[in-house]
Amino acid sequence: MRWRLVGALLAAAVLVLACLPAMKGVPKNPAVEAEQTRMGHDARIDAHGEKMLRDGREIFRYDSFGSEDFWGGQLRLHEAILGAENGGVGPGLTPKEALRLGLKVDAGQLPEILGKAVQEGSVDLDDPETTIALLRAHSVVGVKAITRDDRIVSIGITCAFCHSTVDDSITAGIGARLDGWPNRDLDVGQVVALAPTVKPYADLLGVSEDKVREVLRSWGPGKYDAELNQDGKAMRPDGKSAATVLPAAFGLAGVNLHTYTGWGSVTHWNAYVAITQMHGKGTFFDPRLNDAERFPVAVKAGHHNVRNSPDLVTSKLADLHFYQLAIPAPKPKAETYDAAAAGRGAAVFAGKAQCARCHVPPLFTEPGWPMHTAEEMGIDDFHASRSPDKKFYRTTPLGGLFVREKGGFYHDGRFADLGAVIDHYERLLRLQLTAQERADLVQYLKSL
Ligand code: HEC
Ligand code: HEC
Repeated sequence: MRWRLVGALLAAAVLVLACLPAMKGVPKNPAVEAEQTRMGHDARIDAHGEKMLRDGREIFRYDSFGSEDFWGGQLRLHEAILGAENGGVGPGLTPKEALRLGLKVDAGQLPEILGKAVQEGSVDLDDPETTIALLRAHSVVGVKAITRDDRIVSIGITCAFCHSTVDDSITAGIGARLDGWPNRDLDVGQVVALAPTVKPYADLLGVSEDKVREVLRSWGPGKYDAELNQDGKAMRPDGKSAATVLPAAFGLAGVNLHTYTGWGSVTHWNAYVAITQMHGKGTFFDPRLNDAERFPVAVKAGHHNVRNSPDLVTSKLADLHFYQLAIPAPKPKAETYDAAAAGRGAAVFAGKAQCARCHVPPLFTEPGWPMHTAEEMGIDDFHASRSPDKKFYRTTPLGGLFVREKGGFYHDGRFADLGAVIDHYERLLRLQLTAQERADLVQYLKSL
């Protein structure tokens, strides 16, 4: 027994020695060394990817980039939420009212007692104090409360504000968080209009505060205008709001250009939004905005070249970019569409209806430069002409289309349902689809 043990120990010692890397005079096997380097390198890539994903998720959900200096500091939005009784102004925002405005509550982020009370329905949804408790727990999706001594002293917003919702698993508006799903219930304009003052917008746009509030209230649920504070255009020529529907922030990997009009890549747009829309603190450079004729407001605000110190955005862009590309488009539940009809619809999509010419599966946009003129799309060029490249709409990736049914399709939600979208293409492309083909195509789109 003992000799066997000694033998095993000796063998182990020999093995350890053999593996020591820098033993002088022992020739190394280059193939083994290369393999070890490769393994080390691969492991580093894996670890790096996992870390970027984790950090990117945190940033997407919870990072306000210092935007509290604007939303709390300048607009004093938190004061309207708190109400006079809690150190703010006015009646305060009840949870019922907050849910009505489309704000969402992440049930996974609730403290145990509050979570239980919500689940049992014993929590008072008519009391602004409850809103305050939800905010303190960081459970209101996309809203970051800044606290001092447990009191809310300011408020900032995060990417999740517009680009996440919840699955309503507890009750309408309360449930598990769904990153990347556009919140088509959220009335961004009404939320901002709660603020005791909107003077910073009024000063920048050169209009009255009343006018600013009128514009904010004209957007409606699920909409936002991410270009108003560049070109100052609040209305389209036809008098309708210039806002667009909130897009999905999922299913974007492999897609070349982003936003409805292809302003740039995901990371370009992330910097654009974090700095010029959320009013975070950082660096943003886009010389295309330095055009007083097209972007008078941007020029006034200096949006083409923003340099804040400290910079709370730039160090986060890589992780944020990586995380968004990792969010897959969700799949609809099997019972929400007719699978046999969808199968036939796939053939219509790829063939007679010509959809796959632009919406190339499985990306459902063109690999390459997926841009089309307004004329080609058979629609007006108002929104296209607001982007630096002036005249293009990007082929929207269609994965997870079911999530976007509320609020309508196309950049401004002009087509109320899939039937209306197909009507448009039938006219535009002079398709002669039978009633059966149309119905199958709808089922296919519902299955994406
Ligand atoms: C106030 C609402 C709001 C907030 C906050 C917001 N976005 Fe957006 N986002 C929009 C709107 C509206 C668009 C579409 C703009 C357009 O096409 O004119 C958009 C577009 C995008 C797109 C392009 C999607 C596509 O189909 O190509 C991405 C990606 C995106 N946002 C990510 C983010 C990230 C990351 C943040 C945080 C830094 C953020 N957004 C914050 C409203 C918002
Ligand atoms: C010439 C290229 C082209 C063809 C062909 C085309 N599309 Fe599109 N599609 C686009 C562009 C560009 C947009 C974005 C338009 C906008 O937002 O204003 C779009 C948007 C859509 C949307 C709205 C997505 C959303 O979230 O708003 C749907 C649905 C759609 N297309 C389905 C189809 C179907 C079905 C067909 C075939 C009948 C088809 N498309 C043919 C380029 C094309």
